[in-house]
Amino acid sequence: MKYKAIIFDLDGVICHTDQYHYQAWKALTERLHIPFDETINNRLRGVSRMQSLNIILEKSKKQYTALEKEAFAEGKNKIYRNLLAGMTPDDLSDEVRKTLKALKSKGLKLAIGSSSKNTPIILHQIGLGDFFDAVSDGNNITNSKPDPEVFLKASAMLKLAPQECLVVEDAVVGIEAASRGGFFSAAIGDAQTCKSATYVLHHFGDLLNI
Ligand code: BG6
Ligand code: MG
Repeated sequence: MKYKAIIFDLDGVICHTDQYHYQAWKALTERLHIPFDETINNRLRGVSRMQSLNIILEKSKKQYTALEKEAFAEGKNKIYRNLLAGMTPDDLSDEVRKTLKALKSKGLKLAIGSSSKNTPIILHQIGLGDFFDAVSDGNNITNSKPDPEVFLKASAMLKLAPQECLVVEDAVVGIEAASRGGFFSAAIGDAQTCKSATYVLHHFGDLLNI
């Protein structure tokens, strides 16, 4: 591999917390009688909690105040946190675990670049609390993807230039953020059809062939 580091998105790349986001938003939309499906859910990948809520409310017939919206986002996060509390190191697949270890043993620096404020909790739950060389997440950024801020902060923490790093993403806006920031990118899952990605991964383990 010609890169010095890999910056991984978390939700939907390292673990399947994207499904928990979906379940938690689904509970809110049912309560508010707003239509919600996988297509809308895919638009929430990579974007912040509040922006996700605004996308969901596009389908609402009612207008809500900023205070009401804050309460909705908090309520969703409560449901989401309950789901995260049930996660264990078994929620990290063998493929992801083995691939991460193999990449590390090749001397690559490994980092997280996620829009989620729950990143530290998730990493702890799946047993990766101390694994990464740098963690850049929703707690240290002001602009979420497609803005490249979260990846630029990760590469700065690693003291590397964007051109030396590969970003792995399942969100279309994540691939866009990578290219805007001058990073190479590998698309997995929902982002696989994204034309601007440098590589397409059919499996996480394909990273070992780059
Ligand atoms: C991203 C998810 O990783 O984090 C988004 O793809 C989510 O769907 C965003 O909205 C923010 O997450 P959190 O945990 O801070 O609500
Ligand atoms: Mg993601």
